[in-house]
Amino acid sequence: MSKENLVGIAEIANFANVTKQAVSNWRMRYDHFPRPMQNLQSGPVWDRENIEAWVKSFKGEETHVLSFINLKGGVGKTTTAVAVAEMLAQEHRKHVLLIDLDPQTNATVTLISEEKWAEMDKDGRTIAQLFDDRLNPQNTPKFDIEKAIENRVSTINDGIPRLDLLASSIRLIDLQDRIPMIALSGNFTANPLEILRVALQPVLDRYDYIIIDCPPSLGTVTKNGLRISTGYVIPTIPDIVSTWGIYQIISNVDGFARDIERSIPALGIIATKVQANSLHSRVIADLKARRLGRFGEPGMLPQPPLFNNTMPQTVVVARGADVDADIRTFKGKYGSAYDALQGITQEIKQLCEKKKH
Ligand SMILES: Nc1ncnc2c1ncn2[C@@H]1O[C@H](COP(=O)(O)OP(=O)(O)OP(=O)(O)O)[C@@H](O)[C@H]1O
Ligand SMILES: [Mg+2]
Repeated sequence: MSKENLVGIAEIANFANVTKQAVSNWRMRYDHFPRPMQNLQSGPVWDRENIEAWVKSFKGEETHVLSFINLKGGVGKTTTAVAVAEMLAQEHRKHVLLIDLDPQTNATVTLISEEKWAEMDKDGRTIAQLFDDRLNPQNTPKFDIEKAIENRVSTINDGIPRLDLLASSIRLIDLQDRIPMIALSGNFTANPLEILRVALQPVLDRYDYIIIDCPPSLGTVTKNGLRISTGYVIPTIPDIVSTWGIYQIISNVDGFARDIERSIPALGIIATKVQANSLHSRVIADLKARRLGRFGEPGMLPQPPLFNNTMPQTVVVARGADVDADIRTFKGKYGSAYDALQGITQEIKQLCEKKKH
């Protein structure tokens, strides 16, 4: 075989348009990554045609990064984000990272014990430390993405293989208002909207899905999540107050996506905590018909579709959020909402992977 037909990691990175680190991550993550033809002194080399074909077919397997967003609190963002992450990892055997961007740390303490969280927080293994490092460039940086990620989290089966967590911290409450000022604090290399993206770069390609649980706001921390998102979903209780801000979310994210020259599509709206009453039925009917509130009026943005599966209100879900409740099965943790959450996970997977092959 002639030399021109052999390529190393740098060349693969070049034509795949990713970093060398990303190619190394693919090699680790995928059994179907082609074996090198030879191991030269300069490193392994592959047959060009073979590896190009692999990269092409692989393109459909990019990391899907999904933010769970609503401006309204208590609408089931965390519950759906955590359940979807758990099910993608356990039932669909995907490699999943859940990022908790909310200083309330609800997703974090649903997935690990409070003792574990306290230990991680003390060691600077949370998202708050990442922002703290950028806010205080005079200090030695403490955040290390490899160390911060906690593997095999969840109460289900005492930990789900392939499900990782990047934890949050209540310390983020005191930091978050200063984050937009980072660029002004003299450190011009730190764009306040790029902090999460830069930190995640080395690990991004290890995951099939990254699920981001956002706080109920569209502030700089949420924007850090949107910056890396390939899409987002809007969990909402189907009532008037919970759906009130949805138009604003869509138009705000749309504007942000245009600013950063990316596409961040809304995959859909997920109806949560659904009860059998006439208000919920009416709002669900409007969402189904894609005519919620201002959507659909002339000159307005179109309403994203409603997911087919809706999550019913149940007492078991409220109990399952307690990590000490020792709920180790999906049925025990989610009760009668289990089938709906399974359906929602399936829909998300189909929406993300529909481009595939
Ligand atoms: N289907 C359900 N049935 C009953 N209770 C539910 C259901 N889904 C969520 N809950 C409960 O409702 C509360 C709010 O849910 P969750 O924390 O998921 O909302 P959130 O949108 O993330 O809130 P926040 O804006 O505060 O982050 C929690 O106590 C949760 O356990
Ligand atoms: Mg939440």
